[in-house]
Amino acid sequence: MDKVTIKDIAREAGVSITTVSRVLNNKEEGMSNETREKVLRVIEKVNYQPNQLARSLVTKRSKMLGLIVPNISNPFFPELCRGAEDEANDHNYSLIICNSDDQLHKEENYLRLLKEQQVDGILLSSKDQLSETNKMQLRESKIPFIIFDRGEEGNQHSGVFLDNEKGGYLAGQHLIALGHTQIACITGPKNIHNSQKRLSGFQLALKEAALGLPEEFILTGDFKMDTAYQLAKEFLKNNRVTAIFACNDLMACGVYQAAHELGIRIPEQLSIIGFDDIPLITALIPKLTTIRQNTYEMGRKAIELLIHQIEHESSERVVFEPTLIVRESTKQINKVGGVDI
Ligand code: RIB
Repeated sequence: MDKVTIKDIAREAGVSITTVSRVLNNKEEGMSNETREKVLRVIEKVNYQPNQLARSLVTKRSKMLGLIVPNISNPFFPELCRGAEDEANDHNYSLIICNSDDQLHKEENYLRLLKEQQVDGILLSSKDQLSETNKMQLRESKIPFIIFDRGEEGNQHSGVFLDNEKGGYLAGQHLIALGHTQIACITGPKNIHNSQKRLSGFQLALKEAALGLPEEFILTGDFKMDTAYQLAKEFLKNNRVTAIFACNDLMACGVYQAAHELGIRIPEQLSIIGFDDIPLITALIPKLTTIRQNTYEMGRKAIELLIHQIEHESSERVVFEPTLIVRESTKQINKVGGVDI
């Protein structure tokens, strides 16, 4: 059978080609419901597949968006993808998801590829700061873009972020309220802005309680489980702390593993607090206390901003609030004669 065209649908429904085109492009203002439904019935009956290529030549839109994430193996990012994909779908866009593997050259390649694919917009969660090449690529391609979670500098880009400093502060306050004074922190990479902010918020809470965080109690991690495991194992062998703040949940999992292997009981001998609230951690025993980022909703919001930027050439910066989720891995400390036990 010959390929069904928009002309055939118009003839069969007894309406003009413009009317069919308006239905296909969701521009039905002023059209009666009856007409719209008649056209949709014919489209369904003949199983019409619009020619996306031809369509994009006319509309100058591909209805495709690109999303670049730094590490798809970290469950935080699939959660972002879910939210982003759902929102894109609600607006009839499809999403190309690219994983840069924390490598700058892959990030730059994907930016090039997305330009070649003529995506209408890009949501970028960079490996850390935006590189000069990234910035030039984005500027020159003239494709609307939104930054997510990482890559912000001096609040100059539209995007979706978390108040990371507050997140670190909440973690510190929680441990202090439970009576902990000997606390260590496993940070994310030094060059990621959100990781620096989590640490400074945490330090602020400790400072307000007149507590210090000695340099040797700050362990530089990389947001990965295995590194945190190695760091925690070495550290806990030689130091006695009653609590650890791991700046993301995957690193908290690494601390669990180290504590388990060293025979340290959580939370009786060691309280642990994480950051992110990834779905996976509900399987941990004891259940992990953490700082929640509403990653799914943040992903949806980012795509909403991106589509707004595509359609109205204006966008904004949205900062989400973190929340403390108290579960079972943090515990009030007992003191006997002023000594932590
Ligand atoms: O777990 C991955 C971390 O990297 C998250 O905390 C997120 O905010 C990101 O930058």
